[in-house]
Amino acid sequence: MNGIQAPDGWSIVWLPEVDSTNDYLRRGSHPPGTVVVAERQTSGRGRRDNRWHSVEGESLTFSVLIRPEVPIALWSRLSLAAGLAASECLETMGYEVGIKWPNDLWILGRKVAGILVESSDAGAVVGIGMNLNNRRLDPELEATSLLLEDGRDWEVGEVLELLLPRLAAWSSRIGADFEELIDGVRRRCVLSGRRVRLQTSRGGMEGQVIGIGARGELRIETPEGVETVIQAEQVRLL
Ligand code: BTN
Repeated sequence: MNGIQAPDGWSIVWLPEVDSTNDYLRRGSHPPGTVVVAERQTSGRGRRDNRWHSVEGESLTFSVLIRPEVPIALWSRLSLAAGLAASECLETMGYEVGIKWPNDLWILGRKVAGILVESSDAGAVVGIGMNLNNRRLDPELEATSLLLEDGRDWEVGEVLELLLPRLAAWSSRIGADFEELIDGVRRRCVLSGRRVRLQTSRGGMEGQVIGIGARGELRIETPEGVETVIQAEQVRLL
C-alpha cells in the first residue's frame, strides 16, 4: 500500500503496528506534515477516553502532525477542517455523508469515521479513523463501514490519496478565510433543526440546534434562550 503521493511538504510513514498513531506523533520529534499510517493500533483512542477499534486491512487509521500558521486559539478548528476533508473524500467515492458536529462522519445515521485532534509540543495531531471494509461492527457502536453500505472494497492507500490533499488544503484555511470551511460544514451538518442533549464542561444542556455559527460553534435554542457551544464532550440526538 506504500508509494502514494503525499501533498507538498508532507511525508508518509507506514507502520505495521503502533499503540496509537496520535501517540506516535505526540512522542519524539517529527517535522510538521508527517503522516503516520498504521495497519494495526494496539491502543487506538477515541474522544472522551473511548477506545477506537480498527481492523487490519479493514480500517483507515492515520494521524498527521500539523503546525498551523495562525494563533493557537484557532487550532481547534482543525477538527472541523478534518471533518470537511473526510466528507469531501467520501463524497468523491460516491457516498452521501453528513457531519455530526463537531466531527463525526455519518452515513444514514451511522458513524463511519471519527476524528481526534490533540495538541503536542510540535503542533496539533489530527487523527482519523475510518471504517472501510469492516464486515462486522459492535452493534452498540451504531457504526457502519463503506463495505456494509454498498458492498465495495477499498484500499487504504487509495482512500488516503483522496483524503490527504483535502486535509492539507482545508487545514491551511482555519484562519482569516475560515468562512468557506464553515459553509461546507454547515451544508453537511446532520444536527441542524434536530433536538439534542449535550454534555459540556458547563454541564448538561438540551435544545434544538439552530445551526453552526461563524466561529464553528453550535447554536442551540434552549428554554433559557440561544446558547452557543464551542466544545461538547457528548452530543446525543433526541
Ligand atoms: C472518535 O470518534 O472518538 C475519534 C476517533 C479517532 C480515531 C483515530 S484512529 C487514528 C488516530 N489514532 C488514535 O488513537 N485515534 C485516532
